[in-house]
Amino acid sequence: MTTRTFPKDFYWGSAASAEQTEGNQHGTKVKTIWDHWYNLEPNRFFDEVGPSETSDFYHRYKEDIKNMKDFGHNSFRLSLSWARLLDESGQLNREAVTFYNDVIDTLIAHEIEPFVNLFHFDMPLYLQEQGGFESRKVVDLYVDYAKIAFSLFSDRVKVWFTFNEPIVPVEGGYLYDFHYPNVVDAKRAFQVAYHTMIAHKKVCAHYHDHYDGKIGIILNLTPSYPRSQHPSDLKASHICDLFFNRSFLDPVVKGEYPEDLINLLKEYDHLPETKPEDTLLLKNNPIDFLGVNYYQPRRVKAKTHTPHPDSPFLPDWFFDNYEMPGRKMNVYRGWEIYEKGIYDIMINLRDNYNNIDCFISENGMGVQNEARFIKDGRIEDDYRIDFIYGHLTWLHRALIEGCNVKGYHLWTFMDNWSWANAYKNRYGFFSVDLETKHRTAKKSAFWFKQLAETNELVH
Ligand code: BG6
Repeated sequence: MTTRTFPKDFYWGSAASAEQTEGNQHGTKVKTIWDHWYNLEPNRFFDEVGPSETSDFYHRYKEDIKNMKDFGHNSFRLSLSWARLLDESGQLNREAVTFYNDVIDTLIAHEIEPFVNLFHFDMPLYLQEQGGFESRKVVDLYVDYAKIAFSLFSDRVKVWFTFNEPIVPVEGGYLYDFHYPNVVDAKRAFQVAYHTMIAHKKVCAHYHDHYDGKIGIILNLTPSYPRSQHPSDLKASHICDLFFNRSFLDPVVKGEYPEDLINLLKEYDHLPETKPEDTLLLKNNPIDFLGVNYYQPRRVKAKTHTPHPDSPFLPDWFFDNYEMPGRKMNVYRGWEIYEKGIYDIMINLRDNYNNIDCFISENGMGVQNEARFIKDGRIEDDYRIDFIYGHLTWLHRALIEGCNVKGYHLWTFMDNWSWANAYKNRYGFFSVDLETKHRTAKKSAFWFKQLAETNELVH
C-alpha cells in the first residue's frame, strides 16, 4: 500500500453554484435565462425539471456547512447570484446581502475558507435581453456588480473568481444550442467570448487596485490528444486546443490571444470587434490563482469530410472527435475517465504558463440512477472513491514534479440541479431526497473526510 502525503495547507473541499443549489423560488430574485428558457421549453430539461426548487441551500446552508466541516472541508466554492443581489434598476437587495453575509460568516465560523465566484452561467434575463455579453454595456454592468460584491464581502472573502467555465455559455448559447439563447452563430459566439474576457480583465484591474486578496478565473481545461502523430491529426488537435483551451487560458495568463487563433479567425472573417484600449487591458491584468475544472479529455482526429460551405462555421470544421478504442469510460455518465489528463494539464501550466498558482476547482463523477447503489440507507459509491483516488494520484505526482497546485475541490458537495441535465447525473458527497430535502452522506464522503483530515491519500 502506497501513501501519498499532500501539503498541510492543501485546500480540500467541494464546489457548487447559486442557481444549482439555492432554489430560484426562494427569496427575492429577478428571473435568469434559466427560468425563462424553462418556461419556454420545459421539454429541453431532463424530466422537465427546472431551476425552481433545487436542494434548497437557501434555507439549509447552516446544516450543509456543518456537514462540510464534519466531512473534512477547509474550503468551499460557491457563487453569488447576480440576479439575487441586484434588481433590474441596479438596486441592492438587502435580503440577498443578509443571506450571503450569513453564508460567508457561517463558513468562516467553521474554519472553511469561502472561495467566491461571481458568475456561473446564470445571466439575469433582463441583461440577456439587452444583448448579454455581446453588449459592452452589459460588460460594464457586470463590472459594477463585481465592485458591489467586493465592497460587501471582501473584508472576509479573500479568494475570488470572475467566471466559471466562461467558454460554456459561448458553446452552449451561441454554437451548439444547449444553453439559452440557443443561437448558432460563431461570429456572435466569439464576440461573447471576447467581451467575457474584457469583463474579466476589468474586474481583475479593479480588484488589484483596491484589495489585497486573490482573484482568478475557473477554466474547464480539456487536454486535446491527437489520434496519431500524423501531421493532419496533430493539426486537428492543435486547432481544437486553440478553440477550447487557449482561447481563454492564453489571454488570462499570458495577456494575449494565440497568434494561430487570430490568424484562423481572420482567414474565416470571424474576428470579434475590439477597441484599441483593449490591448493594454488584456496585457496588464494577470490573475493570482487559476481554478482548473477537469472531467475528461478531448480526443481528436483529422476531418474526414469537408464541411458543406453553406453550413454554419463551427470550431469542429477543423477536427473530428476520435472514439479511441479501449478508452476507459464512466458508463454511468458516458464520459471518458482519463486520470493522467489532470497531470498533463498541470505540467502544461508549469512549463508554458509561468507555473501559475492553481487548484482543481472541479473534478467529479456523474452517475445516473445512483439510488441503485443504496445499501443500508446510504449510497456505496466505491466507483467515485476510485475516480477521486485515480485523479489525486496523478495530481500528487504533478505536485512532486514542481507544479504549483494548491488544492482539490470535488464537484459537488450534494447532488444538485444541473442546467438542462437537471437531476440526471448525481455528483455529490451527499445525496438529497428531492421530496424531503433530507441529506445523506455517501460512502465517498467518509473516505474524503479521512483524506482531508490527514492529508494522506491511501486506498
Ligand atoms: C460542470 C459545471 O462543468 O459540470 C457544473 O461547472 C455542472 O455547473 C457540472 O453541473 C456537471 O454537469 P452535468 O451535465 O454532468 O450535470
